Amino acid sequence: MITLGIETSCDETALAIIETKQSGTKTECRVLSSLIHSQAELHSAYGGVFPALAKREHGKNLVPLLHKLLLEAAPYMTTTKNICDDSFESFLAELNTIVAPQNPELYESFTSAEFVKNIPNIDRIAVTQGPGLEPALWVGITFAKILSDLWSIPVIPVDHMEGHIIGSLIRSDIANGVWHEILDVQFPCLALLISGGHTEIVQVDNIGKYKILGRTLDDAVGEAYDKVARLLGLQYPGGPHLSLLADEARKFGISIETKLPRPMISSDNLDFSFSGLKTAVLYAVRSAPRAENGELDRDWKLGLAREFEDAVSDTLRTKLKKAVEQTSATSLIIGGGVSANSYLRRMFEEVSKEFSLRLFLPSKHVSGDNALMIALAGSFMTMQSQNTPIKAQGTKSLSQIF
Ligand code: KG4
Ligand code: ZN
Repeated sequence: MITLGIETSCDETALAIIETKQSGTKTECRVLSSLIHSQAELHSAYGGVFPALAKREHGKNLVPLLHKLLLEAAPYMTTTKNICDDSFESFLAELNTIVAPQNPELYESFTSAEFVKNIPNIDRIAVTQGPGLEPALWVGITFAKILSDLWSIPVIPVDHMEGHIIGSLIRSDIANGVWHEILDVQFPCLALLISGGHTEIVQVDNIGKYKILGRTLDDAVGEAYDKVARLLGLQYPGGPHLSLLADEARKFGISIETKLPRPMISSDNLDFSFSGLKTAVLYAVRSAPRAENGELDRDWKLGLAREFEDAVSDTLRTKLKKAVEQTSATSLIIGGGVSANSYLRRMFEEVSKEFSLRLFLPSKHVSGDNALMIALAGSFMTMQSQNTPIKAQGTKSLSQIF
């Protein structure tokens, strides 16, 4: 089965085509093409993601990205039939009344999308329906519906967080077109989701069967990284920049006396809270040593980044250990953008070793938002949702749908 994945929940416009097959108990997958267009640079001027800009950019990017995607996937796919000019013209006229008023950029780029007249042998479309920024989600959903009408194939709504769980099971270091086994994971297993919007410990009983064991009560880990990075004068998205400073501090043995809190570390439950950590950094920055030009002292900044990362690492480690002790999990899946962090990756490896867990870490280039994970999650879904109207679910979280 060939699935097209569409991801527009935040500031990445991403598309992917994958093929999956079942042989006995094995599930195999091959990536035909996967592309990500990041808008991060545009949003950095605003210090965070600006929803109206994200919506506009997705509208502009989706059609050219699809063109490139289909060209890359072409060696592995066939084109069955073509849509005649007249049908395509009437289709565009329909789009003009339905799509143009809400999504002028998407409509505009579709008018030059001659290539979509060739129907590729894609079986279904999987699109992120949430959680995420609602205006951004709607562009992806609208795009999915247009293609579904044009190519007469179903659309499957996918939960972004489930995508992060399933996406970590793909071997993305394998070249396009090469079949490989996926989902070689024993259930129940544990998943730790650490992204810009979520921090959750999830018990995964099977694909589609999830139980949230703990979650953040306020800020997500990625959000804390981004906010602290901003306090240190770093660019959005701050997570990667902040972690580079912490790496440098460790390399040169730089540390500061300030000790940051390890929030909720001794609580019995598996919940998190990161907003106090951010506030502690805010106070520390106010009384921090500064250079003559008023900028934060560089060594202090490095030391603070290191201490922040230690506080995050200690907190995640403690809660993970608690979760492992409470469950009979033998595998650990890490998902979400923050899982690109090298220091945290080493900590996850240590915990896995200590508890003899099989660790599933996404390759760094697919730890952030991508459409591969959406396509794969969509390929596992039953077709029951085919006739259900799809609605963007801005704030929905994994626990509310399963
Ligand atoms: O999963 P993701 O791409 O988007 C959401 O669904 O939120 O996660 C983005 C988050 C951002 O907060 C970003 O700063 C953080 O992941 N991030 C990192 C690193 N790379 C990305 N945080 C810490 N260290 C990193 N290396
Ligand atoms: Zn994400």
